[in-house]
Order: sequence, then C-alpha cells, then structure tokens
Amino acid sequence: MFSFAVLPFLLALPVLGAPRPRASCDLIGVTVPIPAGSSLAAPASAVKFVGLGVGIQNYTCAGTGTYTSTGAVAELADISCLVNDSTLPDTATAAWSTSSKTAGQFITSFPALKRASILGEHYFVVNPVTGSGISPKWDFTSASFAGNSQAFVVAAKTGNVAAPTGSQDVDWLSLSAVSGQGELASQIYRTDTRLGQPPSSCTVGSADISVKYVSKYYLLGGTIA
Ligand SMILES: *[C@@H]1O[C@H](CO)[C@@H](O)[C@H](O)[C@H]1NC(C)=O
Ligand SMILES: *[C@@H]1O[C@H](CO)[C@@H](O)[C@H](O)[C@H]1NC(C)=O
Repeated sequence: MFSFAVLPFLLALPVLGAPRPRASCDLIGVTVPIPAGSSLAAPASAVKFVGLGVGIQNYTCAGTGTYTSTGAVAELADISCLVNDSTLPDTATAAWSTSSKTAGQFITSFPALKRASILGEHYFVVNPVTGSGISPKWDFTSASFAGNSQAFVVAAKTGNVAAPTGSQDVDWLSLSAVSGQGELASQIYRTDTRLGQPPSSCTVGSADISVKYVSKYYLLGGTIA
C-alpha cells in the first residue's frame, strides 16, 4: 500500500545513489614548491589544479644492468582542499605501498582522500612529435572534464632535481606542454615525490618491474575552464 510518507524517501533515492559529495577548493595563493637553486622552470601562471598522484613507475632492465623507465600510470586525486596537509604524502604512501587495491579504489577508500574527487589519469603515450619513444600525458577527459576532448596535455621535461626527501624518491620535475597536444595546462610540476625509484641494478633479461609511488602534480595555465 502506497503511503505519502515514503515520498520524501523516494525523492531522496537519486541523491543517495549519487557519488558522495566532493570537495574542491580555490587555489588562490597556492604556489609550486620550487626548491631554491634548482633547475626547475619558473612558474609562468597561476596554479589551476593540484593532484595527488597515486600509481606506479615502470622499468625495464637494460643491457647495461640498470633499470630504465618505460613510463608510469597514476590516478590523480583533487587535493585542492588538502594543500595545507603536509602529512598527506607520507600517510598516503605508507598505505598505498602495502595496498592490494587499484589506485582508483585506493583513493576512494583512503580516509584523508574521502572527499577528494578524481581529476584524471597520468600515463605515457608515443611521443607525438618524433613518433618514437614515450611522452607523459595528463588526461582529465574521462573524469573531472568528461566530455571535453581537449582536457588533456602531453608534455616534455624542462627541468629535474633530486627529491629533497632522499634517493628512494623519484626526482621532482618541471614540464611544458607540447604545442598542439591538449589544452589542459601549459606547465606541469611533479613535486613531493615518495618512492618510485628502481633498484640500483638488475640482471639482464629479468622481467620488467613496477614500483609504486606517490607525488603531487601541479598544473598551470592552459585554456580549459
Ligand atoms: C606498467 O606496468 C603495468 C603492470 O605492472 C601495466 O599494467 C601497465 O600497462 C604498464 N604501463 C606502462 C605505461 O608501461
Ligand atoms: C591553506 O592555508 C592558507 C593560509 O593559512 C589559507 O589561506 C587557505 O585557505 C588554506 N587552504 C585550505 C584549502 O585549507
């Protein structure tokens, strides 16, 4: 028997079924943490996105017996509301390094990131200029900018500096957009890195490896609104 008492509940159903509320905060005054004296490029515009990258760095064992990078895959969580949380890289890394979840599952279940939405993905593509080798790409077209086919950027490295936190952590980087390769950003920075470095040597012929890492990504400029 239908009762009007259930009406508010029925009306609430689409809300209950929707993703939990996501927080996004303005980034006015937020600056890229460029280490003093480093060769990272100077930021030329305001910070537009700050993501926590949670993912893996891939390596293959080269003929020299050392690992060389074959790219990376990461999910980027919007940490615009967590820019003042200085403990986040360490707490997220401690949990991610022992997690059996995918990066996406990890982000939606890690307490500090509960209200963070997914900005998009970071991965590598064939270098669009030379047609050989790989280039890093940040792609928000299937997450925060779903439906906007220009919400990506392919970039090239402009500077790197050893992580101030130690040799187990991948370098901090500055990158610039490759002309004509997306409108998401004009500059990208990888900072606050945790882990991601391969062992210092390998046995030639051994299998490829993936090393978990966490870092912040700052995206600046670009014409996407
Ligand atoms: C990295 O390695 C994982 C397996 O660990 C694989 O699924 C992924 O496609 C690789 N990505 C790249 C860019 O090499
Ligand atoms: C971070 O701290 C600054 C300075 O205290 C403050 O203005 C800003 O609102 C804070 N941001 C967030 C997202 O909490």
